[in-house]
Amino acid sequence: MAAVKPKVLVLGGCGFIGRYVVCELVEKQVCSSICVVDKVPPQIAWLNERQSKVFADESITFRSANLINAASCASAFGEEEWDWVINAAGETKTGQLQKLMWEFKIEKILAINLLTSIDPS
Ligand SMILES: NC(=O)c1ccc[n+]([C@@H]2O[C@H](COP(=O)([O-])OP(=O)(O)OC[C@H]3O[C@@H](n4cnc5c(N)ncnc54)[C@H](O)[C@@H]3O)[C@@H](O)[C@H]2O)c1
Repeated sequence: MAAVKPKVLVLGGCGFIGRYVVCELVEKQVCSSICVVDKVPPQIAWLNERQSKVFADESITFRSANLINAASCASAFGEEEWDWVINAAGETKTGQLQKLMWEFKIEKILAINLLTSIDPS
């Protein structure tokens, strides 16, 4: 009997690291579905030919969300659950840290919201 493939959430999936993770997951056909979440949509993420093809795969869905904003996460994720969550989101632009820390204090940590959607078993 074939093993059931996991349902995977990739945070920051349009970034440098995330897009390669997504490519590997799709090309190796190891997931039943992949949800890519990023504040930058794939259409403006400067994907190359390989990545564009992968992101057009029927196993992929994209959801736009700002992961430091609780309301944005709630509308993107709702009560949905995933088998695996891969976090490749991170602010890598210089000068963003102070602004992010301020937003972070206001919105509190969104990882908590995400973690509550993960099955601990
Ligand atoms: N690239 C490397 O060589 C490298 C090495 C070691 C560690 N890292 C770490 O890995 C992480 C990803 O690095 P990268 O090079 O892929 O960066 P990247 O900037 O290319 O990608 C990060 C992605 O996260 C998304 N993102 C950032 N903040 C977000 C938010 N609040 N909500 C939703 N999406 C958000 C961005 O839009 C982007 O697509 C970073 O934390 C980085 O420090 C990277």
